[in-house]
Amino acid sequence: MKRLLSGVKPTGELTLGNYIGALRQFVEMQKEYETFVFVADLHALTVYNDPTELKRRIKDIVAVYLACGLDPKYTTLFIQSENMYHTNLAWILECNSYMGEMSRMTQFKDKSKGKNNEAISCGLFTYPDLMAADILIYDADVVPVGVDQKQHVELARNLAERFNNKYGETFKVPEPIIPSSGAKIYDLQNPEKKMSKTENSSKGCIMLLEDVESARKKIMSAVTDSESKVYYDKENKPGISNLLAIYSSLKGISIEEAENKFKESNYGEFKRCVADEVVKLLTDIQNKYNEVLESGFADKILDDSNAKVRAIAQKKVEEAFSKVGVGR
Ligand code: AMP
Ligand code: TRP
Repeated sequence: MKRLLSGVKPTGELTLGNYIGALRQFVEMQKEYETFVFVADLHALTVYNDPTELKRRIKDIVAVYLACGLDPKYTTLFIQSENMYHTNLAWILECNSYMGEMSRMTQFKDKSKGKNNEAISCGLFTYPDLMAADILIYDADVVPVGVDQKQHVELARNLAERFNNKYGETFKVPEPIIPSSGAKIYDLQNPEKKMSKTENSSKGCIMLLEDVESARKKIMSAVTDSESKVYYDKENKPGISNLLAIYSSLKGISIEEAENKFKESNYGEFKRCVADEVVKLLTDIQNKYNEVLESGFADKILDDSNAKVRAIAQKKVEEAFSKVGVGR
């Protein structure tokens, strides 16, 4: 069975966009692959986070992932910082990557744009090396990521090949996969923009753990257009098209089927149906989330995973250390 690995940075609350675009894909793929999913908490440190807040978000993500259907029978769910070997390997990779290639990472360029060099952490610059370590340490075959992260998976491929050429076959060269079944979900108030967790307070973004009635209101007041026919036209009807994408994803039907269903409906009726689906999803996730928190189940899972991932990672790091010639 091929091994799949992906990580999520605990830098904000998880949104409906994360669920439809990523999380749900993991849940679907976990039976096809030996799946490793982790909370990339060390990656959050590239910028300052309130420590108490960060800890809370890490635990929340674990519980939400379990609530959304990641099943410990198929998926090894763990927290990156609880496996210290990631940073050991990151150092080796840092010493085999170059300032030039790291300077070309578009995420770094975006995130450091307009900032004074004295205000950019070295971690922000080298984090793709840590990400490569996250991937290579487990011999991952496939890495599902959003388009914005594809360049980093390509760096991981390059680093694996470079290391293998220099020191002998050590790392598997991973393939990025961009999940295609998940629609991209847009901001409800500004449907040209991706629905994003960094827009936490906005009326355009639905959080998986938010009050369901507040989520319903956000759908009901989503921006539409002056026509009153429900059909998909991303260019001229971005708001309605976004709601159609949300509805069809949650119902597991095609956009055409959704269009058909609402061809006689006005916007109010249509939105009510979308809101009902979103409320149903959130209620279900939140009920399971509360069960997970109350049961102490998450800690047990994390402990089991931890033993497993450390053993795998230790072996890989010892091999890499030995290949480069450090130690006795
Ligand atoms: P991010 O929250 O941007 O770190 O992304 C985590 C994962 O969720 C990535 O795989 C993204 O592609 C996916 N994702 C985030 N926001 C959306 C969105 N609005 N629509 C679809 N997928 C999303
Ligand atoms: N850097 C990714 C992000 O910002 C998260 C991440 C860290 C990751 N390590 C990874 C994703 C390894 C896939 C594989 O979203």
